[in-house]
Amino acid sequence: MLLAALLAGCTSGGPPPDPSERRARELLTQLSLDEKIQLVHGVGEVPEGAGLIPGIPRLGIPDLRYVDSASGINLAGSGATPLPAPIALAATWDADLAEAYGRLIGQELRALGIAVGLGTGINLAREPRNGRTFEYMGEDPVLAGVLAARRTAATQQEQVVATIKHLGFNHQETRRFSSNSVVDERTMRELELLAFEIAVKEGRPGNVMCAYNLVNGLKSCESPYLIETVLKQDWGYPGVVQSDWVLAVTDTERAALAGLDEEQPGSLNDFVGSYGVQTFFNQRLKAAVQDGRVPADRLDDMVLRKLRTLYRIGLMDRPPGPRQPIDREAGHRLAHQIATEAMVLLKNDAPAAGSTPLLPLQPAALRSVLVVGAHADAGVISGGGSARVPPPDGIDPVPCTEPERQPGPEALFRACATYYPSAPLHALRERLPQAQLRYLDGRNAAAAAEAAAAADLAIVFASQWTSEQVDLASLALPGPTTDPTNHPYDQEALIRAVAARNPRTVLVLQTGTALTMPWLDAVPAVLQAWYPGVKGGEAIADVLLGAVNPSGKLPLTFPRGESDLPQPVISSTELDVVYREGLAMGYRWFDSRGLTPLFPFGHGLSYTQFAYSGLSAAAYGRGGVELRFTLANTGAREGAEVAQVYASLPASAGEPPQRLVGWQKVKLAAGERREVVIRIPRERLAIWDTGAHRWRVPSGSYTLRVGGSSRDAGAQSTTVRR
Ligand code: BGC
Repeated sequence: MLLAALLAGCTSGGPPPDPSERRARELLTQLSLDEKIQLVHGVGEVPEGAGLIPGIPRLGIPDLRYVDSASGINLAGSGATPLPAPIALAATWDADLAEAYGRLIGQELRALGIAVGLGTGINLAREPRNGRTFEYMGEDPVLAGVLAARRTAATQQEQVVATIKHLGFNHQETRRFSSNSVVDERTMRELELLAFEIAVKEGRPGNVMCAYNLVNGLKSCESPYLIETVLKQDWGYPGVVQSDWVLAVTDTERAALAGLDEEQPGSLNDFVGSYGVQTFFNQRLKAAVQDGRVPADRLDDMVLRKLRTLYRIGLMDRPPGPRQPIDREAGHRLAHQIATEAMVLLKNDAPAAGSTPLLPLQPAALRSVLVVGAHADAGVISGGGSARVPPPDGIDPVPCTEPERQPGPEALFRACATYYPSAPLHALRERLPQAQLRYLDGRNAAAAAEAAAAADLAIVFASQWTSEQVDLASLALPGPTTDPTNHPYDQEALIRAVAARNPRTVLVLQTGTALTMPWLDAVPAVLQAWYPGVKGGEAIADVLLGAVNPSGKLPLTFPRGESDLPQPVISSTELDVVYREGLAMGYRWFDSRGLTPLFPFGHGLSYTQFAYSGLSAAAYGRGGVELRFTLANTGAREGAEVAQVYASLPASAGEPPQRLVGWQKVKLAAGERREVVIRIPRERLAIWDTGAHRWRVPSGSYTLRVGGSSRDAGAQSTTVRR
């Protein structure tokens, strides 16, 4: 019926169907029932990558290999580039870099003969203890959506399919197959679904992956609301909805009728032995179609979506080929650039008794430097799980012993962190040839403190490993009681001990999410480097020494303590995860409650200063606003500022105090002033009308503020009416 309706639609005088539509429909008529079934499920676990749908050579349909590509391609031995984590990409606030990130992943997937890259995750950071926060792009739907769209489109220009994931409300790993996100319609639409809406409409992904968790009582891969109503009907999504990997589907009919188009990893015999789980889109789906429980045209629709996507993105005309070498130099250059642009200078005070901020380092004044902790002599850390990218030469510079665990779906991934051999210590040595650099591993805080007292400067490295499958118990730096595998000593005690003996102490953080910092007052300078990727050590040294002026801004709020978060703990027993905070997610929560964060959303310092002035607003497009203002670099060196626009809606809208509606990253020479124009489209001012089930712009007065963070005291503001 559905296919008939689609076909009828083509002859009724509408726009001519695009060639991929016509070609997909023609090809569909040539497929047998078995071939159609073959195209809607994977074959189970495969030796290389995450999944496979075998092609149909007689019809020119290529083999479709699926590989994770959240921060680069997760394929051992491929030499693919480990990029900085997506949370770092988000910290650049730079859509051009998101495009470059996506393009590189597309090029490398192509070179490796892989058809589908399983990356961009855009689940919002509702819960910063979520172990997968590093794989996503922060807590704001517009920031995450816009960057994901640019990244996705760029990957697909290289003629590989990009997957956006995980639809939706996949915000914790605790009981990840059975937790139930309980969330109201308006909150869904204005927050997480808005990120997906932007990414889907502007990025046009070939695939959208539904999630493991339940949403309002239904598995998200079996949710007619999420898949059929929102994604396919409201947003007109023409691509494939694929399942997450195991335990995402529980029932053939429910999933097929809700709109799921493909099951992964699937199996050849309805059972994945290694996981001990059933699969539903092979013989079970065939039987359901044969006896009419799933209409034949639903199966045709699944296949049509796949074929249309393959034609549109170019895989039918240019199938994935044999493996080619990767352009490692180009990849590493981009990884280096993104890492430096992602770094967020959280704090940069003058050390006690001084008047100049501690950073950037002044090489001439440094004869002896202590570098301590976090394997800074060996490399930089990365996140775990499916988003992990193996070290390019297969050599992890930090030895680690995997702990004993019970096998099963909950123990799929390594518990040892992966490091890339880009040692900050070596990069610092290269850049500080005249100084004596001493390294201590941090296990002995007293010895480190002694060494610090004798040095001109101490640089403490601290890290936090996070991974799919495991949430953090707290946002404190991990140590021997919380992550003995990767962090066998007390990192907080080390920081305090060193800083107590040397006021010139810099802290460099490599973490995948927000951190609490009870030790912050003791340390004058803190640089957040995230998981900085394969050239992370060099990038850290560049920023510490001022070869690159930091310009990253936080894509998520850093709270003072977990008790300031909407949910005090992630329950290990309650299956219902109730979004009681409603619209007040992330900075919206801190603003609504009048809570002072440790570092607000959008925060990030520079080695120069910026001043905003002369803000004015004019009408733009249909109901949008054009803002103009002058941004001046008032300091003594070149730098880039992310000018951020926040809107406060009329009180009648019932919204949190402010929302991000636009931004621009502006590079200015020392002393330069420039007029900046930021256009805010009408839809950024809209709220979701739960009565009419559509977006609406409330009438009344809107305050627009432009500044360097969500809490910038120097922000300019203006008011417009709608
Ligand atoms: C993850 C997905 C990933 C898939 C394939 C799942 O466990 O949730 O994000 O793409 O595995 O590796």
